[in-house]
Parts: sequence; C-alpha cells; structure tokens
Amino acid sequence: MPRFERHVFVCINERAPGHPRGCCSAKDSVSIREALKSRCKLEGLGARVRINKSGCLNQCEHGPTIVVYPEAIWYGFVKAEDIEEIVQMHLINGAPVERLVLPEECVNTPRCPHRGGGVQFRGA
Ligand code: FES
Ligand SMILES: [Zn+2]
Repeated sequence: MPRFERHVFVCINERAPGHPRGCCSAKDSVSIREALKSRCKLEGLGARVRINKSGCLNQCEHGPTIVVYPEAIWYGFVKAEDIEEIVQMHLINGAPVERLVLPEECVNTPRCPHRGGGVQFRGA
C-alpha cells in the first residue's frame, strides 16, 4: 500500500466548560472532522489523505484548529462551511487556503494577540 501523502490532524480536545483556554470540541471540531472525513472519502482521497483525531495542539485560542502535514499548514477558526474549500484547494490541488492559515505570529509565539491582547484575526 502506498504511503499517505498527507495527514490532517483535527483537534477534538475537550475541556470542562469555563476553562480559560477553551477547547476545540466546544467549537464543533468533532463534526468538522467527521465532515472532512466524509468529504475526503467521497472524493476518493481515502488512500492518500488521512484525517486524524488529535488531542490538544496547543492552539486552543485559535480553535477549531487543524494542521496538515507534511506542509505543516496551520488552520484556525475553521468552520463547517470551510471544509469544501480545504478539500478542493488544499487536499486535492495542493494549495493551502490562505484565508484560514494562522498568521506566523500566532503559532507558538508569545506575540499571539489571542493569548493576551493586540490585533484580532478572523472571527476571534
Ligand atoms: S483544545 Fe484544540 S488546540 Fe487546544
Ligand atoms: Zn493567535
């Protein structure tokens, strides 16, 4: 069997209500993952793209969070209506959906405005 071309990790971490960092599952990430998986199956991508459940990706303030490897493209604030575009543009045509990509300053840096003030990013 050929290797998978891509792994898509969808955070489905769940935390108790009121947790200061929130969690992706409270923002519908479980159904987003299911939709992504079904859409990939319909497109015949099952042998090439793996849609994986993930625990916390430490991007909770940007959730629902998805990361696609091997490119290491981080998507944040993903909504159900974004799935089709991710599948068509990125997983089929290889072009990341730029409008959903988390800015560099957000991923694992102290400059992220969502963790303590500063400019806002889409829907945050
Ligand atoms: S809960 Fe999803 S990234 Fe932390
Ligand atoms: Zn941020």
